Amino acid sequence: MNPVVVGISGASGSALAQGTVDELLRREVPTVVVCSNAARLVWQQEMGVSFNHHLSQWQEHPHFTFHSINELLAPIASGTYPTRGMVVVPCSMNGVASMAHGLANNLLFRAADVCLKERRPLVLVPRETPLHSVHLENLLTLARMGAVILPPAPAFYLKPQNIDDIVRFMVSRVLVALGVDAAMPADLQYRGTED
Ligand SMILES: Cc1cc2nc3c(=O)[nH]c(=O)nc-3n(C[C@H](O)[C@H](O)[C@H](O)COP(=O)(O)O)c2cc1C
Repeated sequence: MNPVVVGISGASGSALAQGTVDELLRREVPTVVVCSNAARLVWQQEMGVSFNHHLSQWQEHPHFTFHSINELLAPIASGTYPTRGMVVVPCSMNGVASMAHGLANNLLFRAADVCLKERRPLVLVPRETPLHSVHLENLLTLARMGAVILPPAPAFYLKPQNIDDIVRFMVSRVLVALGVDAAMPADLQYRGTED
């Protein structure tokens, strides 16, 4: 099975990245991770432990591969290397701008650029609020290029009780958008009003 690439950039929402990688590995999907330097800073702030703490746990999984951000010789830097696509989660506005303009000066943005040029699935979980017009224009450019723009927006109608509920919903959305899962879990599907 071709791998899924997970790019982790320096926006708020490290738990979304952790949940995505955990769920891919739980499904035994080959998973290639690349993480920006800013994402490491955010990870420490939000998770209370270093990114390397989680990295060392993932590295025990046989389907896990990690590349450092400057490793431009990694296979995912080339369109000749087959992947199922990529998710950037969370996705910074710096990342949105880079990808919208074809900038590929590190492995994360190069791997995303490869997905765009090869017409492979590229799912972005952009996190910023509020958004100014350049953010919105860049997101529109990426949507027109075929990327799926999947903001970390909770489904309030499901009445999430805590952050874990929100993370699980978003990660499920990502897995469906990537084509890893066929549908949302039954308990995360809107069922209308049930009497
Ligand atoms: C704690 C923290 C939270 C941040 N949250 C966001 C955010 O939600 N969205 C965003 O676009 N940038 C955010 N930033 C700023 C980015 O990390 C910064 O623009 C960085 O250059 C992004 O680099 P990258 O795209 O290479 O990961 C945050 C930075 C820190 C330190």
